[in-house]
Amino acid sequence: MSKKPFYITTPIYYVNDKPHIGHAYTTIACDVMARFKRLDGFDVKFLTGTDEHGMKVYQAAAKQGISPQELTDRVSVNFRDMNRLLNISEDQFIRTTDPAHKKAVQAIWQKMQDAGDIYLGKYAGWYSMRDEAFYGEDELTDGPDGTKIAPTGAPCEWVEEESYFFKLSAWGDRLLKFYEEHPDFIQPDYRRNEVISFVKSGLRDLSISRTTFDWGVQVPGDEKHVMYVWVDALTNYISALGYPDTESEEYKKYWPADVHVTGKDILRFHAVYWPAFLMSAGLEVPKRVYAHGWWMAEGQKMSKSLGNVISPEHLVNTYGLEQTRYFMMREVIFGNDGDFAHKSMVNRVNAELANNIGNLVQRTLSQINKNCEGQVPDPGILEDVDHALLNHAGQEMLIAVRNEFDKLQFSRALEAIIHVANLANAYIDEQAPWTLKKTNPERMKTVLYVLAETIRNLGLILQPFVPQAANRILDQVGVAPDARDFAFIGAQHALVKGTLLPKPEGVFPRLVDEEPAAQEKTA
Ligand code: MSP
Repeated sequence: MSKKPFYITTPIYYVNDKPHIGHAYTTIACDVMARFKRLDGFDVKFLTGTDEHGMKVYQAAAKQGISPQELTDRVSVNFRDMNRLLNISEDQFIRTTDPAHKKAVQAIWQKMQDAGDIYLGKYAGWYSMRDEAFYGEDELTDGPDGTKIAPTGAPCEWVEEESYFFKLSAWGDRLLKFYEEHPDFIQPDYRRNEVISFVKSGLRDLSISRTTFDWGVQVPGDEKHVMYVWVDALTNYISALGYPDTESEEYKKYWPADVHVTGKDILRFHAVYWPAFLMSAGLEVPKRVYAHGWWMAEGQKMSKSLGNVISPEHLVNTYGLEQTRYFMMREVIFGNDGDFAHKSMVNRVNAELANNIGNLVQRTLSQINKNCEGQVPDPGILEDVDHALLNHAGQEMLIAVRNEFDKLQFSRALEAIIHVANLANAYIDEQAPWTLKKTNPERMKTVLYVLAETIRNLGLILQPFVPQAANRILDQVGVAPDARDFAFIGAQHALVKGTLLPKPEGVFPRLVDEEPAAQEKTA
């Protein structure tokens, strides 16, 4: 039977900056989702990459006295390095300077033009380079010295130039109809409502080319113009699949995407512009766009000037890779804003990874090591309490976790997993195998077997979040490498009695509650 496809994407990151916690967050979330789906039997494509054109990158290069190409080559590597540091399992890393990508962008432009949705005009209005976005006068506030400020806080400048436009104003009703027919397209729901009211308030035509710099994809048939960076960037999601060849194997298999994960700040581009471009070009619209929230640092907005931008290296070096991945997925409900605080990190890791899961594994395995000759014990005759725990740790847990993953509710999925670890810890206290050792050694073996089985299931389900630690747990209960996907969750795939287990070693050490050394300033 052929596997069901699942296509997930991160935004592609601007190369004017170093990777920081915000980039790490989106990428880790997509990685956790991609790993979950692979283990759950899907044929996954996970795409990420870098957004290399546009005024912002052009000016960043000029400031450093190098060519934009040199800058992008240099910085794009930092994002690949971030992925290695964070153990990211992307299937493809796309760069918008790839020649195949540029061809795809020109092709989609041509389709939109053929559909009558592009015209040449003159743009006169406000532009924010920081956001690479146009704003209407009514959206702006007055800043110091007569500057105009976008809702994101970015300064805007007045631009006046010849420009091609996309007839976005003509797409409002069709977009609203699309949202209505696809109620799951924009998530979370409160974001959906925001987008709908934005569209209902009336859409202006969108300026989609620039003539004042040339760092971009050329407009077909008019070499004075380069395309607006968002037309270019959004197209990465299909150029990666071989577009304009819509008959290519990957395009046919993976498009439309199952989910584009983005930050809340760039939802409008993904939920308004992108579907309009695609419909205009006669292409299918992705199934879902999920907008997550923003991280602050110790209660403050992160900014270069405050020097409090948290880097992925700082996180991994201070807290550990698995701990960082776990914390980011656990601490905030996906969609909400969150705060990165040292204390919360230490508390989470110690309470949930060290004391709860780590301790369960440690005390079970050390008793098996000491009292069962280091072998998977004979299950003997199971009682109702044993079956009950095994059921909770088997299909029941998988179904609960899968249900949360379907909604990208990573923290709730972890709650369901922690719930099982709590039940197992209560079971071990209640059954007290250390006492049974003298009073009823057969029963002790049954109890330790049931616990080892529970740990096997916990190890399997934890893999997407903490792949290395989960695999160390699975090694310690003797699970073969080819028995680690989710088809092996549940009672019928139990451990084999008599299997010799390696000497147990702790997987989740406690973090010391000391303020870490300040990270090097990233600015
Ligand atoms: N290049 C565009 C995306 C094009 S996608 C076709 C872009 N790049 S970005 O590098 O500026 O931002 C990428 C992502 O980082 C966005 O999803 C944004 O929300 C996210 N974050 C930036 N700062 C963040 C936090 N402080 N917290 C969480 N995510 C944040 O936009």
